[in-house]
Parts: sequence; C-alpha cells; structure tokens
Amino acid sequence: MDILIVRGGNELHGDVRVAGAKNAALPLMAATLLAPGRSVLENVPELADVSTMARVLTTLGAEVQRDEAGALSVDSTNPAGDTAPYELVKTMRASFYALGALIGRRRRARVSLPGGCAWGPRPVGIHLSGFNAMGVQLELDQGYVVADASRIHGARFVLDFPSVGASVNLLLAAATVPEPTVLENVAREPEVTAVARMLQAMGATIEGAGTDKLRIHGSTELRPCAVRVIPDRIEAGTYLTAVGLAGGEITLRGAEPEHLTMLIAKAVEAGLQVEVAEDGIRVRPNGELIPVDVETAVYPGFATDMQAQWIALMTGAHGSSFVTDTIYPDRFTHVAELVRLGARIGIRENVAKVQGPVKLKGAPVMSTDLRASASLVIAALAAEGTTEISRIYHLDRGYEKLEQKLGSLGADVERIRG
Ligand code: EPU
Repeated sequence: MDILIVRGGNELHGDVRVAGAKNAALPLMAATLLAPGRSVLENVPELADVSTMARVLTTLGAEVQRDEAGALSVDSTNPAGDTAPYELVKTMRASFYALGALIGRRRRARVSLPGGCAWGPRPVGIHLSGFNAMGVQLELDQGYVVADASRIHGARFVLDFPSVGASVNLLLAAATVPEPTVLENVAREPEVTAVARMLQAMGATIEGAGTDKLRIHGSTELRPCAVRVIPDRIEAGTYLTAVGLAGGEITLRGAEPEHLTMLIAKAVEAGLQVEVAEDGIRVRPNGELIPVDVETAVYPGFATDMQAQWIALMTGAHGSSFVTDTIYPDRFTHVAELVRLGARIGIRENVAKVQGPVKLKGAPVMSTDLRASASLVIAALAAEGTTEISRIYHLDRGYEKLEQKLGSLGADVERIRG
C-alpha cells in the first residue's frame, strides 16, 4: 500500500488548477445510462472513484473511454446488465446511483444496498420511499434492492431530508417519466444542480434547478449529450485551508467562488485574505489565525466535506473553536490522528473543541477516510518534521494528483509506492 511522506514547514506559493468535481462527475456518469448512444463528459477528474463508477457502467453494458484531455465518453447503446454488484457498491456508495439510472433506462434494476461506512449507517430510506411514491415496486433480496418500475409514474414527493444522493437518484428516474414529477425539499448542492442541467441537455424539462423544488417533465426518448463537469469546491476548499495553516499565497485556478460562499466567509472571519481573481480565487493568511466556530449544514451551509480540514486549520488559530457536524455526527475519525500530530482537540457528541495554537510535530498517522486524510495532509504540511501517512488509497478516491499539485506549490510531499 502506498504511503505519503510529508516534510512539513514549507509555505505554499503559486497556482493550482482545481479539478472537476468528484461528486458531480459520479452522478453525471450514471446519467449517461439514460440515453442510448455516446455522451461525453469533459473535465472528469482522474480518481479511483471515477474508475469504480466506470466499472459500474461497464458491468451494465456501457463502453467507457477517456481521452487525453480528460474527457470521458460513455457509449450506452446496449445496456445489457441490470445488476450493480455488492463488490462495487460496497467500495463506493455513489454506485447506488445505478438504481435511479437503471429504473430510468431499463425499468428494472438489481442494485446492492451500500451498507454502513466508517462514520455511521448512512441510510438510503429516502431514495426508496421516493421510488415507491413513483410506483416502483421494490423488494430486498439477499442484500440487493430489486426494482420493478414497469408501472412507474409521475408523483409529488417531499424528501424527509434534502439528501444529495436521494435527490440525484430520484431525478435520474423522473427524467424518463413523461408525466410531471414534483420533488420538494430537494438538496441544493451544486452537484445536484449539475445533474439537473445535464438531464435538461438530454431533453428532460426541469423547472426549479438550483432550488429545493423541482418540477420534472421527463421523456422516454432522452438524447446523449456533452457537458462539462463543474469545478470541485471541496478540492478548492482543501487547498484554501492548507495555505491558511501552512502559510504562503496561492491561486485556485478555475474555482467557482459562488459554490464556496460559506467557506470563504468563514475563512475571512478566521483572518485569511481571499480575493476573487480572474479565473479563480487568491488566498493567503493575513496575520494571526482567529478561532471561528462552524456547524455543518446542507448547501449553502458549511459543507460536512470541509469539516475535517477546518479542524486542521483551527489547530493554528489563537484560541478555542467549536466544530459541529450535524450531517454526520460520527465523522470525526481524523481527530485521534490529528492529536498524534500534537493537536489539542476534545470531542463531545458531534462537537469538536479545538484549542490553538499548537506547534504540530510530524508523526506516523493513518488515513481513515477521504476528507479525514485531507485534514492529515494539511496538518502535516504545517508540522515540524516528517509525517508518514498510511492508507492513502482514501486520498486517491477524491484528490487528483495531490502530491504533484502540492509539490508545484512548494510543499515537500513524496509518495512511496508499496
Ligand atoms: N440520509 C438519510 N436517509 C437517506 C439518505 C440520507 O437519513 O435515505 C441522511 C444521511 O444519513 C446523512 C444526511 O442524510 O445524515 C446526508 O446524506 P446525503 O444523502 O446527502 O449524502 P450522500 O448523498 O450519501 C453526498 C456526498 C458526500 C457528502 C454528502 C453530504 C457524493 C458521492 N457523496 O453523500 O461526500 O458528504 O453528500 O454533503 O456526492 C465525500 O466526498 O467525501 C463525501 C462523503
């Protein structure tokens, strides 16, 4: 297994290009199944999760190719399969998007239930209730959701919670249903809006994209399309917090400031200087870091996917801050590892109290999930000495060319293959 060696203490300087968003690319890839023919997605990041989704599509009979410019073409003329197996879904929950896509395209599906994850049960009940409301018959068979959508119809459905995954899954299916479907309390994350935009480009009529109420008039004859994946706001945010703690000045090329409003507001409160530059965002610390509390919330609130990185940043702040995760109350596996680097963090229920500033010191640590790993990298960049991060396959799921990008900014980061 590869490990990452970070020799801390270098400031970050220069430009870094933000990749296409993982959490947009994955549902857009699933959406290509809805129309026979070849769809093209530009700006797809090179990530392990993208390869997993490509395997899901291939298993379902699609042909997936990537060109040198990073565009992915998916030919789903012959979607022969209707089963997304446990082996794939357990490695990546987003494989569950196969359910909405198969219901949409084939009117039947057999998709493994994802199961829990390292930081909680992560249920899919809202996805299933929504499909039920649309007349899809669902059964559970040996850990698989088996769907018969031969009598699918339009419906009005209010999501119990604005789940990103449920919003996407229901949209995928509704885009193929000619009668109107109204989804309320839908997630407003930019990645969900990106899916709605793609479905519009494929021929579905969707009103309210970007709001919490979508009115969808689908079509049984969706067309393939070409779309560009939106920039990854979480990757951008990760570099933003990294420079905040390590020091320096970087420009996040291609970042979309509109998608980062809450993070930028919090960063400015914490004393970072953040300017919207041409084609991106320029960031640098501006004096002492100020402790700032955050509480995660659905978009446009503070993203749970930035919680771990914010905790890393706050280890350098002059005073105590409280970081609360309301979306995933158990998503704190990074805390024990950050403590190994010298951080002073206590947890009570879903609230971390971070006491700064501390002088972090390098140590061997272990990645536990994607964003947890990102927080360890940020801490390691600012730490004195060498940090060895193991299990970095988690990082490879969601950060494209991490060591190259950090290296180009002046960090000393090396991958040891093993
Ligand atoms: N929830 C339910 N029932 C459901 C679905 C969700 O109770 O049927 C709850 C969850 O337990 C959780 C909350 O709703 O408390 C939010 O879950 P959501 O469904 O919105 O999350 P997701 O679709 O499984 C996506 C991202 C995650 C990100 C969350 C929240 C993708 C592929 N994944 O997951 O990203 O944390 O939204 O924003 O888009 C990551 O990139 O590191 C990552 C974990």
